[in-house]
This record gives sequence, structure tokens and C-alpha cells, in this order.
Amino acid sequence: MEKLVINGGRRLYGSLEIQRAKNAVLPLLAASVMTDERVRLRNLPKISDVENMLHILRELGCRITREGCDAVIDSSNAASHEIPAVMTKEIRSSIFMLGSVLTRFHRAKISYPGGCDIGIRPIDLHLSGLKKLGVQIVEENGYIDCRVERLTGAEVVLDFPSVGATENIMLAAVKAEGRTILRNAAKEPEIVDLQNFLNRMGARVQGAGTADVVIDGVEVLRGVDYVPMGDRIEAGTFLIAAAVCGGEIETHGVAAENLAALLHKLRENGCKIHTKNDTIYLSSNGRLKSVDVVDTSPFPGFPTDLQAQYATLSALSKGTTLVVENLFETRFKYAGELRRMGADITVRGRTAVIRGVAALRGASITAGDLRGGAALAIAGLAAQGTTEVLDLSHVDRGYDGLERKLRLLGASVRRIKI
Ligand code: UD1
Repeated sequence: MEKLVINGGRRLYGSLEIQRAKNAVLPLLAASVMTDERVRLRNLPKISDVENMLHILRELGCRITREGCDAVIDSSNAASHEIPAVMTKEIRSSIFMLGSVLTRFHRAKISYPGGCDIGIRPIDLHLSGLKKLGVQIVEENGYIDCRVERLTGAEVVLDFPSVGATENIMLAAVKAEGRTILRNAAKEPEIVDLQNFLNRMGARVQGAGTADVVIDGVEVLRGVDYVPMGDRIEAGTFLIAAAVCGGEIETHGVAAENLAALLHKLRENGCKIHTKNDTIYLSSNGRLKSVDVVDTSPFPGFPTDLQAQYATLSALSKGTTLVVENLFETRFKYAGELRRMGADITVRGRTAVIRGVAALRGASITAGDLRGGAALAIAGLAAQGTTEVLDLSHVDRGYDGLERKLRLLGASVRRIKI
């Protein structure tokens, strides 16, 4: 076990290269199994979700070569359609493997997926979409067993624009016979990245980033050498940290339009923000005023993956903020830990009422999920005294070198084995 030890109260200054996006890389890795040719993914973040996904690919029989931060995936000898149960428990994104493994083997078997404990997280939309493409699904003993003789294009209407279901159905449809029209698709930038990647492999996908994604099936996909998009959630996390602590930082590698909802709020809080191409510049005097309401919603709305970090900011802003979580049922678990540091937060169901306080005090707190853990680290950076954030395994799922990057910005942060 490891913990972060943070001496709070320092301003953050400097410039940061943002990692490639976890939520883009995971579906790209799943897609790699659909070609016999080699796929090179460049500059992958060193995070456990990526390592676990690579492990799943190895279990399917793919050869993975690491060259610096790149991974080269050779699926020509992939032989298994069964995604090992121990890995699905670790990483929810293994569910994307259904679409791509089906394309490859006409069969896919997976146990019910895990991931962050932030709500019920059903997969009914994934399964009903796959059924529309002709897949027969048997669910028993905690396993989902899918078979299909020939994937066939169809019109699929999602009841809700689920990111994962959109990606899974896109993967299943790229080599299906005929045209698939996916309506009410998720519009997240990572879907656009997946479309770009698939088209570079020879697929015919259009419309990603809008509510209608159209996929015309092709017979063969080829290898590709690809740099995934930048991680908007990592960039947002650092911008929020600098806003609360005060200071001046610049992030490189994420377009401002992918963070528009957050930047809008940060300006209202009193931060100065300039953007140019893939650079976002923020300066803050550390004395923020609250916004009234933050409502999470699918892109381009305020991202649920920044809700916890933004709640920490609200806890130290002047005034009261209502935070409404519309995507996941139990995404306020960090609130109890923030309260131990002196935050004034009341949670009722999917709503948190946060009354800003003048200061937080250092404490020993435990990260319960990935983004909640980042929120607690931000609280420690802004608090008076020393904060220990315990159980870094969640944070390590998604942040590559969080403490190293914070130190670069001038924070006093150490990782210690316990
Ligand atoms: C992805 C992101 C995650 C982010 C989330 C919402 C990845 C690897 N993860 O997760 O970081 O927090 O989008 O932006 O990209 N739902 C159903 N049935 C389904 C699928 C989803 O009811 O079959 C519901 C979920 O319970 C949730 C909502 O839809 O309430 C959104 O989930 P979804 O967009 O699917 O999120 P993920 O793809 O799991």
C-alpha cells in the first residue's frame, strides 16, 4: 500500500504536458484485436487501467511489445474469445472487448465487469445494441456469453447516450454486413478519437461527436500507428488544483473546447483563463467565489469525472454551491473525507449542498475511487498543515505520475510505502 503525504498551502506554477486520455486509450486497445496487422499506440499513460487492458489482450493471445511509452499490439495469433474473470473485475472497460472480440471470433464470453464503485452501472444498453446486430446472448452464473454467425448492420437507438455502449456498438458494427445507424449516441470527444482511429484502420465511420453515428461495414481492417487524444479529465484536475491553491499554470495537449463546461465555471469562480490551440492557461489568486449550481451531464455538459474535484473547489469558495450528479448514483463518497478536513457538505441522494469555508485542515483520509481520490489530493494541496491520502490504487488507475507532476508545479507531495 502507498500513501501521498501533502504539505498544503503552496501555490502552483508552471507548465504541464497532459497524458494521453485513459478513456480514449481503453477502447482503442479493445479495437486493436480486430486486425491481424500490427497496431502501434503512442505515448500511453502509465496507469493500471491500461496495464490491465494490455493484460487482457495478452490473455486472448495477442503479442504486446513495449517500446518506451508506446505499445505495439500484434493480434495475428489471438486465439481466445474468453475474457478472464479476474481481469473483468478489475476493469470495467473490459466490456468493450465484447464488440471487438465478437468481430474477430463470432463468440465472446465475459464475466460481469467491475470498475469504480460509483453506482449500479448496468450494461443493458450494450447488450440490447449488440442483439440488434444479430448477437445471441446468454447470461448465466455471472457470465455473459455472446454468439453470432454474422454481424449485420441495423438501426440502434440508445435510450441514453452511454459512452461505453456507443463505443461497443461502433466496434461490433465496423465489420458487420451493411450499414449501422446508431441514434442518441454519446458525443464525448473520446468517441471522435475512436472514429478517427477506426477510419485509419480502414473502417467507414462518420458522425462521431453528434447524436447519429453511421457505420458502413468493411471486410478487412489494417494496422495503424496512432497517437491518442489528450486527457481532458487530467487537464481539468490540474486546472482545478491551480484554481483552488492559487497560482498560474498552463496545460498542453487538450483543446479548450473539450473542457468548455469546466472553463466556463472556473471563469465564473474568478479565474483568468486564456486558450490557444491545445494550450489552456489559468491564473487564480486562490480566493474564489462560488457558482450557484453545477449539474453533471453527458458531453458537452459538465463531466461527472470532474464533479468530485470541482466539489473540493466549491468547499473553499465564498458562497454556496449545489452540486447535482446526474450520471452515477453514489459519486459523493469523498464528501465524508472532505468533512473530516473541515468542509461543510450535506449530501442528499444525488445532490450535495456545499457551503464554502475559509480553510480546510490537513487530515488522514482515504481515497474510495479514482476521481474522488484526485479530489482529496486537491483538498490536501489547499489545506493548512499535512494531509495523508491513503489507498492510491484508485488514483493510479487513471493518473500517470500525479505526485511527480504536482511537484513540478511546486507542490510539496511525496509518495510513501506503508
Ligand atoms: C465512461 C467513462 C467514465 C465516465 C462516464 C460518463 C470510460 C472508460 N469511462 O463510462 O469515466 O464517468 O463515461 O461520462 O470511458 N448506463 C445504463 N446502461 C448501460 C450503460 C450505461 O443504464 O448499458 C447508465 C450508467 O449507469 C450511467 C450512465 O448510463 O448512469 C452513463 O454511463 P456511461 O456513459 O455508459 O459510462 P461508462 O461508459 O461506463
